[in-house]
Amino acid sequence: MSKLAGLHINVGGVSMETPVIIASGVWPMNPSLWPKGSLEGVGAICSKAITLEPRAGNRGNRLRETHSGLLNSIGLQNGGAVSFIENDLPALSSSGKPVVANIAFETLDELRMIIERLNSCRDMIGAIEMNVSCPNVSMGGMAWGMDKGSLERSVTAARSLWEGPLWVKLSPQAPSIATAARICETSGAQAVVVGNTWLGMAMDNDREEPFFDRVFAGLSGPAIFPLSLRLVWEAAGSVNIPVVGCGGICGPEEALSMFLAGASAVALGTGLFLDSRIPSSTCEKLSEHMKRRSIPEIKDLAGRGRHFRRLQGGA
Ligand SMILES: Cc1cc2nc3c(=O)[nH]c(=O)nc-3n(C[C@H](O)[C@H](O)[C@H](O)COP(=O)(O)O)c2cc1C
Repeated sequence: MSKLAGLHINVGGVSMETPVIIASGVWPMNPSLWPKGSLEGVGAICSKAITLEPRAGNRGNRLRETHSGLLNSIGLQNGGAVSFIENDLPALSSSGKPVVANIAFETLDELRMIIERLNSCRDMIGAIEMNVSCPNVSMGGMAWGMDKGSLERSVTAARSLWEGPLWVKLSPQAPSIATAARICETSGAQAVVVGNTWLGMAMDNDREEPFFDRVFAGLSGPAIFPLSLRLVWEAAGSVNIPVVGCGGICGPEEALSMFLAGASAVALGTGLFLDSRIPSSTCEKLSEHMKRRSIPEIKDLAGRGRHFRRLQGGA
């Protein structure tokens, strides 16, 4: 029997051989840089954020390791939508895996123009993933995902323009992840990705000033896993569309926990810097767990940890 037996899944309109996705921003667009064997067990690859025009990204320091995570202030560095279509999309597609196009926009007009461009290569794109952690200029730069009205307007607009699968990657800082996930569902999203990096900061003690030019930076990696798991639990309890668990998954046990909490798939980011073989070891772990519990298909694993016997609530 194949190692991947039972792992095939359709997540929000995307058919994947396994439920393990490479998260946005951590995977080289150049296939010659992909570590040998690292695509084993990967079900889909997400692109770096795509903006309408090319972006140089943030100035100054961009990365800083913490005891249990990584702070990044890369910004939205990318070649823009046209370059994505001409260069990155063919490169990512050469993997044979569905490509998830992560898009970032500051106005609804930008959103429309990016989607119009992506519509020209609709067949090569598995899904659009809206990155709603990026700023909405009409709201003074507050992230789209932080405000119910902006979230609803942006997802509704994307839905009316894009005929393919539409996912929304929520900000973990949203006032209520359950409400945000419900808004995405009712506005036409087919899956929500929960979540993204958490805002943190670092100080340069020698210079007595913030380490990053933009002061705050996104924290990812092991430190955020319990926070992400809680968000996945909350989101999965409030919507009927699939939830993709993302944030701090650095090994197979964490991936399994995400499924038990209600995720239908997982996205791996920083963990891949530590070990590029996590997709493969995650698939092995999931298969083994399913076999032991006589679970025939991965879709039946999602949410199994929600039916617990202990009383919920306080002591
Ligand atoms: C270096 C780096 C670049 C990232 N770039 C993007 C991006 O362009 N778009 C996006 O939605 N998320 C981006 N992310 C967030 C990741 O996709 C992921 O949601 C986040 O890091 C949490 O998962 P992790 O703890 O497994 O890394 C980036 C993360 C890192 C570390």
